[in-house]
Amino acid sequence: MPPAVRASIQRAYTATDLNGRALRENSIYTGDARQLMKLIEPNSIALSVWSPPYYVGKAYEAYLTYEGWRCLIQKVIRLHFEILQPGGFLAINIADILCFKDEQMPRIQADVVSRKKSPITRDQVLSAMSTHPEATRYEIARLLGCSEQTVDRRLNGNNIRGGKSEVQTRVKIVGGMIEEWALDAGLYPYDRRIWVKDPAWENSRWASLSYRAVDEFEYIYIFWKPGVTKYDRCRLSASEWVEWGSRGVWSFPSVRANDQHEAMYPLELPYRAIRLFTDPGDIVLDPFIGSGTTALAAIKCGRKFIGIDREAKSAAMARERVKIAEGTPCLKIQMS
Ligand SMILES: C[S@@+](CC[C@H](N)C(=O)[O-])C[C@H]1O[C@@H](n2cnc3c(N)ncnc32)[C@H](O)[C@@H]1O
Repeated sequence: MPPAVRASIQRAYTATDLNGRALRENSIYTGDARQLMKLIEPNSIALSVWSPPYYVGKAYEAYLTYEGWRCLIQKVIRLHFEILQPGGFLAINIADILCFKDEQMPRIQADVVSRKKSPITRDQVLSAMSTHPEATRYEIARLLGCSEQTVDRRLNGNNIRGGKSEVQTRVKIVGGMIEEWALDAGLYPYDRRIWVKDPAWENSRWASLSYRAVDEFEYIYIFWKPGVTKYDRCRLSASEWVEWGSRGVWSFPSVRANDQHEAMYPLELPYRAIRLFTDPGDIVLDPFIGSGTTALAAIKCGRKFIGIDREAKSAAMARERVKIAEGTPCLKIQMS
């Protein structure tokens, strides 16, 4: 790489530097996808593949209410129409079900009190919040000696990680909303695949008092921007077509250790999408890049990438992983 180019990519850009400029290829940006996606060159992205916040109580989505979460996903989908190449694709990996406590729901079974993991009640949370009005949800959790997730569940009834089997849990199917938002954006539902993960034994109640299944799979919804799509049988080998290219069910394990990032998806997921839907040299976008998995898959496939994450520490981790993968430093751009 010429020294001048290397010097420029080692610079730490600021929001003002970005003014009016298109985001660059092979770069990871820190900032909100809703702002930064507007700076992507129109019609430039061959494939956008991502896994968004699911609204399941993770720390990186603590800033979102349920309505805020819906607005975020809807807006990010909408911004794709402008930047996808005609004939290009958007692939969204998401679990299809959300769970909410619904006290209006008839109680169809006995509540098994002995199985409750935390004895903390909603009243205790509310009382702690009124005594410490400035405290964050995490600080309240520390005060009460429970997890932030318990505080969230007591306040919002968002109890997916407690399992669907709790009584008075209303489930919400996410796929219909995603489809509607994509259609509103001018993107057509093209296909969907199922990713079968290893069953999450630790998080699941195999002997629950309900007929609800353990969550052991997620969807990959694929949307198409109208335009000419090149169909090239040579993108995969004959055996790859048979093993996964033409298959509706993809089976590979999830990332077990989440000590690096709370919700990494396995490299195999973006890798397959990239191999199927793009050619070498194409640009792949991930507006929720997290630890950088999509960028690593793009590098592995000889594609370019643009990654965005709201959290500086995730973006830094992604840059680091990219740096290791390609042996060159990545652009460091901070959007405040
Ligand atoms: C499910 S994780 C993505 C994990 C990623 N696929 C990986 O393998 O590491 C979702 C990511 O979205 C980021 N995020 C949340 N809100 C965002 C926003 N408004 N704009 C950009 N990134 C956001 C979070 O910080 C988190 O890293």
